[in-house]
Amino acid sequence: MQPLKGTHNPRIFPDTDALNRHAARHIQALAAEAIARRDEFHIALAGGSTPERLYRLLASAAYRSTIDWRKVHVWFGDERCVPPDHPDSNYRMAREALLAHAPISGERIHRMAGELDPALAVARYADTIETHLPRAHNDAPIFDLILLGLGPDGHTASLFPQTEAPSVTDRPVAAAYVPKFNTWRITLTLPVLDNARHLMFLVAGAGKASIIDVIFNSAGGHERLPVEMITAVGEVTWWLDASAAAEINKDSPPRITNPGNS
Ligand code: 6PG
Repeated sequence: MQPLKGTHNPRIFPDTDALNRHAARHIQALAAEAIARRDEFHIALAGGSTPERLYRLLASAAYRSTIDWRKVHVWFGDERCVPPDHPDSNYRMAREALLAHAPISGERIHRMAGELDPALAVARYADTIETHLPRAHNDAPIFDLILLGLGPDGHTASLFPQTEAPSVTDRPVAAAYVPKFNTWRITLTLPVLDNARHLMFLVAGAGKASIIDVIFNSAGGHERLPVEMITAVGEVTWWLDASAAAEINKDSPPRITNPGNS
């Protein structure tokens, strides 16, 4: 188990373009490895705004042909409880940025049904996971890769502080009422994040510098954040731009990853 605190060596890039280029290459490599070993690649997409440009890059001519999309299953780490064509829908963002442009067949795109009653959407998604994903020894499903963002309050996926969802450990999907937004969300639960073969955190912008500071520099003493509750069995990598990483090496400028390697 790799407590998140022990995550070392964040990949820090001068800007989001460089971050997205290297993250895309990493995703390509993980897809190729999974497909070579198991003839399929199960990736759960992150929502929010940060990953949109990465998804557009993956759908671009320069990258699209480097992934065998016929073998890819696309999942979602979380979803807002809105219809799939709603401006807030993570599915809508992913469809417009990637899914409508890559040769992925519809039955391999597993959307969380944000338009349904949250409990029903949770049950349906859990059934779909049951159908398609291998199980770990603790019965948690195993995704090859889960992309994750990070909120300024330390939430990831839709595991928000002071809500029920981070404490759900007996099932793979949960509904979460988020008071600060007065909305319901659907989210993968911590055991699923813990059992992924790879977790990639994509964090960009100065607005994330203080939460990155807390996660990477604090010696504790604060209420454990949902993102800090992850005890991953697989590889955890952090992909940051220099703005988000500004506080990581306070006594020296953030280490900028050599653009030549990912
Ligand atoms: C969502 C996401 C959420 C997101 C963070 C960061 O549905 O909003 O899953 O966890 O990744 O809130 O969002 P930004 O990328 O917009 O900063």
